[in-house]
Amino acid sequence: MKLWGSRMEKDLDAEVFSFSTSIGDDYLLYPYDIWGSIAHCLGLARAGLLSEDEKNRLVSGLREVYRDLEDGRIDPSPFEDVHSLVEIALRERVGEVAGKLHTGRSRNDQVVLDERLYLREKVAECIEGVLALESALLRRAEEYRDIVMPGFTHLQPAQPVLFSYHLLAYFFMLQRDIERLKEALRRVNVSPLGSAALCGTSLPLDRFFVAELLAFPRVQDHAMDAVSDRDFILDVLHALAVLALHLSRFGEEVVLWSTPFFSFLTIDDAFTTGSSIMPQKKNPDVAELIRGKAGEILSSWVSLAVTLKGLPLSYNRDLQQDKRPLFRAVNEGLGVVVIATRLVNHVFPQPERMRRALEEGFLTATDLCEYLVTRGLPFRKAHELVGRVVRKLIGEGRTLKDLVPEDFGEWAHLFDEGVQMVVLEERSVARKSTFGSTAPGEVLRMCAEGRAYVEKEQEEIAGLKKEWQKSFRELVGEKRR
Ligand code: ARG
Repeated sequence: MKLWGSRMEKDLDAEVFSFSTSIGDDYLLYPYDIWGSIAHCLGLARAGLLSEDEKNRLVSGLREVYRDLEDGRIDPSPFEDVHSLVEIALRERVGEVAGKLHTGRSRNDQVVLDERLYLREKVAECIEGVLALESALLRRAEEYRDIVMPGFTHLQPAQPVLFSYHLLAYFFMLQRDIERLKEALRRVNVSPLGSAALCGTSLPLDRFFVAELLAFPRVQDHAMDAVSDRDFILDVLHALAVLALHLSRFGEEVVLWSTPFFSFLTIDDAFTTGSSIMPQKKNPDVAELIRGKAGEILSSWVSLAVTLKGLPLSYNRDLQQDKRPLFRAVNEGLGVVVIATRLVNHVFPQPERMRRALEEGFLTATDLCEYLVTRGLPFRKAHELVGRVVRKLIGEGRTLKDLVPEDFGEWAHLFDEGVQMVVLEERSVARKSTFGSTAPGEVLRMCAEGRAYVEKEQEEIAGLKKEWQKSFRELVGEKRR
């Protein structure tokens, strides 16, 4: 069933209909389509294009369509798309007056309106999810505040760091993700309604009035741009892709650290899987899937970008293909954030294994250089000396803790009890003094500021959601189910 046809001499070919229909993808937009349609009705009435009675009949008809859809009383399959479904279902309920609904509106502005209403909620949900993940990281960082572990570069032991400090690196990556999502949300949260097909309408519609009804703080400036634009989706997909890349690095570290060769972490049995052939196996599939999701989300960005490339203005049917990558990335993104949060709460650090790795790795060699610098040696000289000493110790099967003055050769006079202190890993961490370092005081500061940040952002999102819920309740007459 469709909203057009009188222009053609023939009926649409059945196979072409099923090739071109989008109902299977856009059906889930119906709450937004109805919400936007009711706002449009109020706009038409305000413009004098609907009588009070017509407006009331349309609004209550649309509300009835919403309830019938919610209760599964409408079969969506015969419709071309969600917009046709809503209008035709309305006509079945209120009769001919339904023909006035599409006055001054096109599916071209309608579809982007639906997508924007949908997407702003989903982005908000995603931000809430990322904040919950940040909170989980902070909790674990506080809980395991004092565990010292090797920090890596090139995946080779580098310098001692606090385990909590390593966790906090993810906190800051996620903070940037939130900033990106908020920026995307700002661009999503703009009303295209009233753009009509591509260049506005001669009818006296007040675009700012309907935007306010729908709790949009802004109206799109240019009608043709508004119906052609899918950048707002691309922005969200970009933010989701970077988030997924971050989570993939987390997944990889859990995989790596839980291998018997590292054993820095154990994973709760409930978050691991077995093998159908090798009975001894305990596999980190959850972390692997978290690592794997990035591919799917990134490919959604690529899919939409390729659809947009070279597309002439304004609306083209190619744009219908924005929905699959959009819904896929949103669903996968929301899902992976929730599971990553739960995984954070189901991994357990193994401090003894970390300690053993620390002792084998000469991780305080840089501290020794810095100590020698404080004793007046130029850094390059100190570096050269300590490198030589490490080579000697490796050859003799000793560690930095076995150092004796003779190991320093001509610089033996610089050797004192200070040396024995600087090579201790806990001391190394405690001695760091720069902003953003792994010093325990810095970790504490980051945790405290992190908590305040999460709370502030949670409040902001809750405020936005409340505004949107209020608009929905006022227009659709009930809470979104
Ligand atoms: N189903 C279409 C889409 O998702 C709706 C807009 C159709 N507009 C049109 N002029 N054919 O893009």
